[in-house]
Amino acid sequence: MDRDNPWAKLYSPNRKPLRAIKDFALENVNAVAQYSAYVTHGEVDSMEAIAPGSGAVIRRGIKKIAAFRDETGVVHTHSAICPHLGGVVCWNQTERTWDCPCHGSRFDAYGHVIDGPANADLAPTEHEDTPHPHVPEHLPPTPTHPKNNL
Ligand code: FES
Repeated sequence: MDRDNPWAKLYSPNRKPLRAIKDFALENVNAVAQYSAYVTHGEVDSMEAIAPGSGAVIRRGIKKIAAFRDETGVVHTHSAICPHLGGVVCWNQTERTWDCPCHGSRFDAYGHVIDGPANADLAPTEHEDTPHPHVPEHLPPTPTHPKNNL
């Protein structure tokens, strides 16, 4: 519309009130800090260090891998890069989920998105099916995630 609206300035998405500048700056520093995980080591040095029922982020070359070892010792790997805006997910042992510290997306242990803002699963990696050295080989086959049976 081509008429002036007295409320336009108040509702402008580009407005930044002076008293909010400090919060705006701190939030941006926090967001940048989350991306520093790209250059750090993994949480563990090898898949063997991940106990059954646990997950950890591991570095494989220049990539960060979200590795979950199920109760039978099989390792399920996905990219640790959140499909929303590229944060590096962290393993949440209490919830047994991958959580993104940037904006709060959550993924189940098998990389399927549970909560947004991400609207896609963690990207699959080359499958690595490494039994845990302390898990006997005679265990039954690993059940697959219910979503994989669709
Ligand atoms: S980058 Fe992961 S939720 Fe935004």
